[in-house]
Amino acid sequence: MQISLQDKRVFITAGGAGMGRATALAMHKLGATVFTCDVDEAALASLPEGITTWVCDVSKSAELDAIFDEILPGGLDIMVNNAGVTGPTKLVEDVTDQEWRDCMAVCIDAQFYCTRRVVPVFKKQQQGVIINLVSAAGILGYPTRAPYVAAKWAVTGFTKTLAMELGPDNIRVNGIVPGNVNGERMERVIHAHAEADDLDPQEVRRMYAIGTSMQCYVDPEEIADTICFLCSDYGRHISGQIVGVDGHTETLYPRS
Ligand SMILES: NC(=O)c1ccc[n+]([C@@H]2O[C@H](COP(=O)([O-])OP(=O)(O)OC[C@H]3O[C@@H](n4cnc5c(N)ncnc54)[C@H](O)[C@@H]3O)[C@@H](O)[C@H]2O)c1
Repeated sequence: MQISLQDKRVFITAGGAGMGRATALAMHKLGATVFTCDVDEAALASLPEGITTWVCDVSKSAELDAIFDEILPGGLDIMVNNAGVTGPTKLVEDVTDQEWRDCMAVCIDAQFYCTRRVVPVFKKQQQGVIINLVSAAGILGYPTRAPYVAAKWAVTGFTKTLAMELGPDNIRVNGIVPGNVNGERMERVIHAHAEADDLDPQEVRRMYAIGTSMQCYVDPEEIADTICFLCSDYGRHISGQIVGVDGHTETLYPRS
């Protein structure tokens, strides 16, 4: 089996770091024409030549116009709605209106803003693939992370509904559940959890591992590989699925 994304045009949100970056690099290597954006200009500048980038906050719909105006006239094959923020780690009664809104804006509003723009093009082409980054928090409960959980369950519902709406037009839509991913973001999550529950970060790191059946953390490249497979011709009849690449998360909140 040899995966190729030759001649595919793909837009990935938040490609400056983490899984978005790993996916941009993997797709670029497989021959795709990759477009990406991020709020972090320096991170974008460190991507290889040949990947087209924009500085953009995807939670602001108007900022996306310039990007799609440039990309869409040439067609688009794959949309990866990757951007997401962790939101606050607090009990629900301590979450402010602004914290709630900011988390929703990046995690779910932005996925809608991009999807709304690409669907007419995909329909005209009678083909297209959408990948939405979910989380184990989009299929499980997760105390102290209410805004993120609410946003990610919205992503699950959005994904399932899009697969139903768009399937007749040969447009596939799948969600990815990354679980515990090695990297800076996971470290931030572990430290925020440790602080909120007055625990040692090492203990929290262990708790997240034992919350998965395989007692593991995964690398961003494993997520990227799965996205490439789903977007390739090998995935041509895979749609409406919420695919875990997480060693099977049983709980995000093992009681210590
Ligand atoms: N890391 C994990 O353990 C984990 C687990 C489950 C789900 N996820 C989800 O996977 C996706 C990617 O997560 P990650 O850990 O790779 O991300 P990350 O925290 O490493 O951030 C990746 C990039 O997003 C950019 N970004 C943040 N807000 C943005 C905005 N408003 N507009 C444009 N760019 C923005 C950042 O500058 C950064 O370069 C997210 O949707 C996240 O919720 C992550």
